[in-house]
Amino acid sequence: MRALGLVVILLSLAFSSSLSAAEVAVCSPDGNITVYFDVKDGGVPVYRVTYGDRLVIRESRLGLELASAKGNGQFNNFDNKEAVNENSLCDGFTMLTARRSSFDETWQPVWGEESSIRNHYSEMAVTLRQEDLKRHILVRFRVYDDGVGFRYEFPQQPNLTYFVIKEEHTQFAMPGDLTAWWIAGDYDTQEYEYTRSRLSEIRSLFSSKITPNASQTQFSHTGVQTALQLKTDDGLYINLHEAALVDYPCMHLNLDDKNMVFESWLTPDAQGNKGYMQTPCHTPWRTIMIVDDARKVLASRLILNLNEPCKIDDTSWIKPVKYMGVWWELITGKNTWNYTDQLPSVKLGETDYSKLQPNGRHGASNENVKRYIDFASANGFDQLLIEGWNEGWEDWFGNSKDYVFDFVTPYPDFDIAGLNDYAHGKGMRLMMHHETSSSVRNYERHLEAAYQLMDKYGYNAVKTGYVGNIIPRGEHHYGQWMVNHYQYCVEQAAKHHIMVNAHEAVRPTGLCRTWPNLIGNESALGTEYQAFAGTQPGHTAILPFTRLQGGPMDYTPGIFEMDLAKFSPEKSTHVLSTICGQLALYVTLYSPLQMAADLPENYARFMDAFQFIKDVPVDWQRSVYLEAEPMEYVTIARKGKNSDAWYVGSVTGMQPHDSAIKLDFLDNDRAYEATIYADAKDANYKSNPQAYVITKKKVTSKTTLKLHSAPGGGFAISIKPL
Ligand code: NOJ
Ligand code: CA
Repeated sequence: MRALGLVVILLSLAFSSSLSAAEVAVCSPDGNITVYFDVKDGGVPVYRVTYGDRLVIRESRLGLELASAKGNGQFNNFDNKEAVNENSLCDGFTMLTARRSSFDETWQPVWGEESSIRNHYSEMAVTLRQEDLKRHILVRFRVYDDGVGFRYEFPQQPNLTYFVIKEEHTQFAMPGDLTAWWIAGDYDTQEYEYTRSRLSEIRSLFSSKITPNASQTQFSHTGVQTALQLKTDDGLYINLHEAALVDYPCMHLNLDDKNMVFESWLTPDAQGNKGYMQTPCHTPWRTIMIVDDARKVLASRLILNLNEPCKIDDTSWIKPVKYMGVWWELITGKNTWNYTDQLPSVKLGETDYSKLQPNGRHGASNENVKRYIDFASANGFDQLLIEGWNEGWEDWFGNSKDYVFDFVTPYPDFDIAGLNDYAHGKGMRLMMHHETSSSVRNYERHLEAAYQLMDKYGYNAVKTGYVGNIIPRGEHHYGQWMVNHYQYCVEQAAKHHIMVNAHEAVRPTGLCRTWPNLIGNESALGTEYQAFAGTQPGHTAILPFTRLQGGPMDYTPGIFEMDLAKFSPEKSTHVLSTICGQLALYVTLYSPLQMAADLPENYARFMDAFQFIKDVPVDWQRSVYLEAEPMEYVTIARKGKNSDAWYVGSVTGMQPHDSAIKLDFLDNDRAYEATIYADAKDANYKSNPQAYVITKKKVTSKTTLKLHSAPGGGFAISIKPL
């Protein structure tokens, strides 16, 4: 211990040019990561972070600027009123105390990449006082072996009860011009492809990477979203994100690209304010993961660990789900969400659909839904999603209609009772769909009735959606008001024993630990963009580093027919992946909610490859991260939660990839049969995506498998004990 202490002191001397007497520090349990905190001239709080002997976060400021602050009527009674700026929580501080503690527990997630997770950290809580204003705040640091979390805490006190945040000024000063995998800042969407560039290149690339709309014009042209993956030239992987985003706006990061300093940039509300707070309260955790191997980014549980334990007492009703859907045929334009092509001109609830001419292409018709139920139940799926089942789809998109959907009225050709009975009779459930069209007040007004309808017919999962600009106008998908809305829906759903999968919602921050009925989110480019424009290979090899850090994604993999014109003449786009690249995603993109997104008739043509999707579990006991490099390749092996079988998935980016997979994670002295689904020699995501070879092989823990993946391809392996 003494030796370690000495090392820490030496390091701090080596890396702080102006080490002050007041500086305090806290180390990770393994001693490798150290956070130093100090209050500089003018009472400015600063911190920096080292990893071994490397300075990873240079001295960075902490603080918040308020739009207004209120105390309990005593606030204005200062002796020296002229001298104080009551809206600054950026300076004027002295450090009162720095309390250290440590914590070590192992907890069991309801579902996850592994069945138990260690939460082991050292903590330092610093109390800061603004003497002039007679108020105090805390900065709490938690330091793990793989990174740091810190947050601001605002205790209840006479001189700080209500306050409005103008901006949070948390800095992350980078150690150089790092490589970054980024998407542009936006208050409303993360549905972008990632760009790999140097930090210094973000500004010149920014405009070409965004779809211009009001959301981005408010940003500097160096604003990016989290989770942001970074890499130093000497091989450190740094990941910036946040954990436990509750009752606060989502944080973006603006880069000062002269000095390579990121600073927090919160999502504003309709008034331009950034947060309404009442003490006692705190911000979400700001997170800095620091590891020396890309695989450790994927193995990190930093974000989950910084979230609160599960708040649902009885979780027995929360079950991972493998599902199919009346969905891809709508996305690709083969069929429609709407029942009729005659636009109803009257308000929802006043339209008599039975008097309108059906368009003959309504996906959610009894006949078509039964066809899907037959196929999905015969192949062991748990649920079937049906979109376009409810009235209103004729005129829903971008029309600013506050009354577009009521979430309880089925179209005349969707027999909600009969179809649920039919599905239940075959051992399946239907999955509910609520497209809110971002008419959020409308959704909240109907929410209880909508959940009651689900209870009545036996639905236990809902996919929600927030397409379009938020109503009320001026609010953003990532603002505090919407963050509270998503949370409200998840908590209300829990009361009904309903699991939620929200699309277009704020990107996740590990809240699924606390609310494990939040079984999925979209919040990134999913498979649907393959139908809209085609997504470049490499996207699925960056998602585990970025979007998936906060929680599982409903990516909707499993497309087998890449040439969409083959079944949907309206479409000329191609899905940019091989069939084996699609199979791999069931392992590499962890989610307790996995869809087989293609149409039954496309699976029927490739039943031997479809077998992997039928077999692969959606809940795991153990995960081993075999190979990883952002945007290039990801190879993961996972053991099923309740079985001795293992599943391996590997995806590649634009380049072909050769893997040598050591099976040393298997039990010793046990024989297994591996079924290997690999790209054929001449497979290619562009020209030959459906070429694959399936081989069976006896393997043991001593086996090494050599496998080749085509560009945009991959492989999948199931390994079952003999
Ligand atoms: C966008 C969602 O991501 C997609 O899955 C859904 O089908 C449409 N919105 C319609 O709700
Ligand atoms: Ca979407």
